[in-house]
Amino acid sequence: MKQIIAVDIKTRKVEPARCKTDMLVVGRFSDGVSLDKVGKALDEKLGGAIARLAKLGDFVGKAGTSAIVYGDGKLPAQRVMLIGLGEPKKATLDTIRKAAATAANQAVNMKIQTLSLALHQAAQGKFDTVGMGKAMAEGAYFGSYRYDEFITESQNGRRNALKVEVVDAEAGSIKTLNKGLAAGAVIGRAQSYARTIANRPGNVITPSTLARAAVEMARGTKGLQCTVFDARHLKTKRMGGILAVGAGSKNEPRLIILKYTPAKTPAKGSPRVALVGKAVTFDSGGISIKPSADMDQMKLDKSGGIAVLAAMKAVAELGLPVNVWGLIPSAENLPSGSSYRPGDIVTTYSGKTVEILNTDAEGRMILCDALAYAAKQKFETIIDIATLTGACMVALGQYKAGLMSNDDDLIEMLRKASEDSGENVWHLPSGDEYADEMKSKIADLRNTGGRWGGACTAAAFLRQFVGETKWAHLDIAGMDILQKGTDYAAPGSTGFGVRLLVTYLMNLTT
Ligand code: BES
Ligand code: MN
Ligand code: ZN
Repeated sequence: MKQIIAVDIKTRKVEPARCKTDMLVVGRFSDGVSLDKVGKALDEKLGGAIARLAKLGDFVGKAGTSAIVYGDGKLPAQRVMLIGLGEPKKATLDTIRKAAATAANQAVNMKIQTLSLALHQAAQGKFDTVGMGKAMAEGAYFGSYRYDEFITESQNGRRNALKVEVVDAEAGSIKTLNKGLAAGAVIGRAQSYARTIANRPGNVITPSTLARAAVEMARGTKGLQCTVFDARHLKTKRMGGILAVGAGSKNEPRLIILKYTPAKTPAKGSPRVALVGKAVTFDSGGISIKPSADMDQMKLDKSGGIAVLAAMKAVAELGLPVNVWGLIPSAENLPSGSSYRPGDIVTTYSGKTVEILNTDAEGRMILCDALAYAAKQKFETIIDIATLTGACMVALGQYKAGLMSNDDDLIEMLRKASEDSGENVWHLPSGDEYADEMKSKIADLRNTGGRWGGACTAAAFLRQFVGETKWAHLDIAGMDILQKGTDYAAPGSTGFGVRLLVTYLMNLTT
């Protein structure tokens, strides 16, 4: 099978105007102010071509726009790609990340071999240089990613590798950029790994093959250890929620547990963190079957679990001094003679009983067992991530994930991680009113609430399985589904959550 594009990213000490490359990439803000130093040097050598573009109005630096100018022998670079960074006051590190992703995406389309990024130059002094290095690396991986492992046609194929270099004339900047680049490359690679596993369809990734992938990943990563509970083990543990959801499929459920042992001792008072991710390898809805339109997209219902898997890989590769485990409950939700049914009462791992009103509300049924298990292991912080509710998509669209929590500090830390990573979250409630709706007359809980506020009632259900532990829930429904693709992202999985979770854990160490 085809490998994904291998990205190699380094720094190179060279003046951009003297850089020999297939494509040099520079950013420009839309404030109409004259070009920065690098832009000026390039414009001069190009005989004023960049200034002419601006004068004609063809490229003025608006966000989301770009233009290509050819070197024509006037520059050692074959092409110069200008990318609009928009208004300076609106710019964030994500502006740089997206610009790098846009350039990398174009580079793959154009079958370019070497891409040279000087995107940090225009924003010099605006953001810290380490952060810009990290953002450019993450963006280069993100934009160059393609999912084509099952395309057997070789015509018009893409290149197998992309060489990316971040160019700067100053040794000092190179050193600082390198720091960010190293972290960004690890995170970028982990996110691409997540996208590939998430993009694989339900006939390829089942709970058992996902578990195998996790074992394999852990075997190749220092500091990681993977344990898998199979269906028999889940029965002896009485994990009734995971078993109920998995009952309808021949592909039996699993609980995947990844334990990370840092080589460097975490700082005193650093919390033990459990990351819990929903991995429903295919969600048909079960007996409460979904409509057939777009049901194929429900192969992406494993994205939360895969974000945890990839975040664990990145944390270990970065050698972060944190205590963290990844817990990934995995099942396939199918209708059959052995499926769980509406009306069933399921006894979960916590001992709490749940009346099933809709078998399509299956995510919370597998998560509640993993959450209760994490609470029992006395983690100080539990963060779960799941493609949990269509209601969250209705509320927030595909731009922000829902964030529910029982702890204000944790909310703040995740907000900060969201800002730093460009993976956006929005705080939503999950308190008592919502929990009340999840009470059953014939069991402790029911698995669906009323008509309104479905993202909040789902979170309120989960909240009841963590006891007093600090907990946050990320509802990422829709965040991982790109049916069309954009200027900087290929269609399919976006690997949402990998950058957010790793950045949260990195921030714990600084
Ligand atoms: N996996 C879905 C949520 C989902 C929907 C994710 C669309 C991405 C796109 C989840 O298991 C589900 O089916 N939720 C139900 C809950 C309902 C039955 C209470 C929903 O949102 O409709
Ligand atoms: Mn469902
Ligand atoms: Zn689901």
